[in-house]
Amino acid sequence: MAVRVSRLTVEHHRRPFGIGEPRPRLSWQIESDEPDWRQIAYEIEVGDEMGEASSHKVESADSQLVAWPAAELGSRDRRSVRVRVWGVDSAEPSDWSEPIEVEAGLLQQDDWLAELVGPERELGDRPDRPPVLMRKAFELRAGIERARLYLSGHGMCLAEVNGRRVGDDVFTPGWTSYHHRVRYRTYDVTALLREGANVIGATVAEGWYAGHLGFHGGKRRIWGDDVALLAQLEVRHVDGHVETIATDASWQCADGPLTGAGIYAGETYDARCERPGWSAPGGDAEGWTPVRAFGRETARLVGPLGPPVRRTEELTPVAVTRSPSGKTIVDFGQNLVGRVRLRVRARAGTAVTLRHAEVLEDGELATRPLRAVAATDRYVCKGGGTEEWEPDFTYHGFRYVEVDGWPGEPGEDGLRAVVLHTDMERTGWFECSNPLLNRFHENVLWTMRGNFMEVPTDCPQRDERLGWIGDASVFAPAATFLYDCSGMLRDWLLDVATEHEALGTVPAYVPWFGLSWPLAPMAVWGDGAVVMPWVLYERFGDQEILSEQYPSMVAWVDEIARIGGPSHLWQSGIQLGDWLDPAAPADAPEKARTDPYLVATAYHAYTAWLVAEAAALLGHGEDSRRYRTLADEIKFAFAREYVSPSGRVVCDSPTAYALALQFDLLPDDAARERARARLLELVRAEGYHACTGFVGGRLICDALAGAGAIDAAYHLLTQTECPSWLYAVTMGATTVWERWDSMLPDGRLNPGDMLSFNHYALASVADWLHRIVAGLAPAAPGYRRLLVAPLPGGGLSHASAAHETPYGRTEVSWTRAGGRLEVDLLVPAGARAFVSLPDPEWQDVEVGSGRHHFACPFRDAAEDPPIPTGVAALGLPPETDSGVFES
Ligand code: BGC
Repeated sequence: MAVRVSRLTVEHHRRPFGIGEPRPRLSWQIESDEPDWRQIAYEIEVGDEMGEASSHKVESADSQLVAWPAAELGSRDRRSVRVRVWGVDSAEPSDWSEPIEVEAGLLQQDDWLAELVGPERELGDRPDRPPVLMRKAFELRAGIERARLYLSGHGMCLAEVNGRRVGDDVFTPGWTSYHHRVRYRTYDVTALLREGANVIGATVAEGWYAGHLGFHGGKRRIWGDDVALLAQLEVRHVDGHVETIATDASWQCADGPLTGAGIYAGETYDARCERPGWSAPGGDAEGWTPVRAFGRETARLVGPLGPPVRRTEELTPVAVTRSPSGKTIVDFGQNLVGRVRLRVRARAGTAVTLRHAEVLEDGELATRPLRAVAATDRYVCKGGGTEEWEPDFTYHGFRYVEVDGWPGEPGEDGLRAVVLHTDMERTGWFECSNPLLNRFHENVLWTMRGNFMEVPTDCPQRDERLGWIGDASVFAPAATFLYDCSGMLRDWLLDVATEHEALGTVPAYVPWFGLSWPLAPMAVWGDGAVVMPWVLYERFGDQEILSEQYPSMVAWVDEIARIGGPSHLWQSGIQLGDWLDPAAPADAPEKARTDPYLVATAYHAYTAWLVAEAAALLGHGEDSRRYRTLADEIKFAFAREYVSPSGRVVCDSPTAYALALQFDLLPDDAARERARARLLELVRAEGYHACTGFVGGRLICDALAGAGAIDAAYHLLTQTECPSWLYAVTMGATTVWERWDSMLPDGRLNPGDMLSFNHYALASVADWLHRIVAGLAPAAPGYRRLLVAPLPGGGLSHASAAHETPYGRTEVSWTRAGGRLEVDLLVPAGARAFVSLPDPEWQDVEVGSGRHHFACPFRDAAEDPPIPTGVAALGLPPETDSGVFES
């Protein structure tokens, strides 16, 4: 096969349509069966719509996020781009890649003629506003060439043109920090329009913008009470004439069949109140009134950086049962996030009610974990045939649905669970010989899917679902492996930086809206503003994200340095510390065995060091030196305050040692040795049960492996007793839980108030499965260099991982049998790998692209030590018959 240029991409867009970047960077992959193929030059051809093309040849080995070579894109500009490359040994270029079409959205504020329009603001005595319909009829002459709809609003908008839905996105325009940034999306609606009479319409719901959000009663109308639509339809004719139909005071509005819609509450739809054909010519005409125009929304409008939420999968029920109290309960067999689509035949006025929950308790729907969330959808039938309905403006976290009012039993076709999440591309896979670990990994995937919903959320079901930065930052290394979340997280991090600047500190979650939560710097959560950009840089190789976030990263570290003052210790304020340490009481998850101020100072040292690294990369030499010095000072301060001369770390907890070791906070080798040994002792004394919370959970397996105690790391990983990562799996979990014991061994629910069954913070260990168990890690940003260093153990006879890196697919797979470890590796063109096997002969071997095989002597899976139990686990000598320890 010759060299082929494939997967040409634009910025981090899966579909570069309606993009906001005037100079979008380009990336591509190389397919070649020539081993160690290396690019020395590339040529980009950019063609416009007039058939003019310009070519730009650059001598470079780069293939990722290279600069846009042509003139800057203007609003609505469309370009066709293709690429060809030259290899080290070839005088001839490759063939041109398939072209990719790029289209810009509206890049200038004055492109927007549309005004925000909506119903009157007054709600009467209702706390919420049911979704409202808006529409406009218009005429078009013949010769339509192309039509684009630019859509945004305050709330959630679902557009229709001539009775047909526009696009396949859900929850448009998505969730951003609306005070600062409001997203718009662009749709090609050419095929929906026709000569003569046309109608454009939209249903607009309160959504995140104005609906109920947050715990402790939460808030409503957080960003405003002006629920509104912003739509600009531009129709270009073949003669070049452009007709613009934009929202203004001439639009009309009316109530529709939706009598209520809240993200938490669920949706209520009365099909008897439908307005037939309301968004098509000649449709319903009764009771429409003029909209109210709220003025322009231009300054805050931004194009998307990542994909929207879409429906990505459908699940059929696995069982329909009757609960002890006689309720019909449908089980989808998988805890998921989305909603149910129903197909029902019933008399007019029949109301079908669906209540959602993640788990059952005593055979009944367990709704306590939902706190103030109703998660109830209701459909009132219009009668006269089969009716199909799916809510549009809500989502639930559920595995079980209690169905009420269904005529008879919901049959095979009656109910479908529709899975929703930000439509990222899957990029990571892991598999091994332990079925429980495989199920755990599957659970991690489902948990990521359920919580990457516009912003990375803590949970998808209760009165929260917020972008808690601490959770996202510990999970980020695993997340970036599993899905291409580069665009989505880049977008969200811009909100983090914007909120940071406006608020003067990094809030604990973003989009921020106060609640009863204090606006104060909080370690780990605020540190995410530094950690996450770094992880994205490391995994996606996008230095631009670091530049964008750099001012926020610096401001955060400076703020904490001011708090620490000359002591360099962060010992004040509310700290969540090693949140959800299993030793903490159920009602006080912050009461971990590790001092939260120790955690705070450790993170301060770590983020100061990361800023020093980022500064060096971005060419801020002076900053780099300053933050490196600061990091050293914090490290000394940490050691002075928390480390005994012999290397014991105060609190004497696994998380304290894991932090000290992984963040390199110990003064010398002797202290490190002591800390490693003590960490192992502690983990052993815990009987290899989980002994860390959110913070330690991300670090402990690496700390043990670094201490040469790989077997202990595997014991911890493969433990099945409570608390442990696999305990939930043995309890039938299909997602990762918030607490180690969200469900207790006897099947009852944990008495605590926070009780999610779909929380990714404790799933951060999946990163260890990828990097250490399978052995696939980045050694240079964007996986341009791979580190392939599997550490087999835990009784596993094989493990493998695959990842779609920016350069292409890479695969690592190992098996062991007959006293040998065999490793297969695939390195994509443009990348190289350093391979280290657990054998002195195989250390840091560098290989180029292509397929490789390695082998070395290694013990078989059956020879791995099993998890010690009882006194053996404590590392104590066995008891004698007389009950006295043998000396
Ligand atoms: C969330 C957590 C979050 C925490 C912060 C909880 O309610 O679910 O995951 O990080 O609050 O305190």
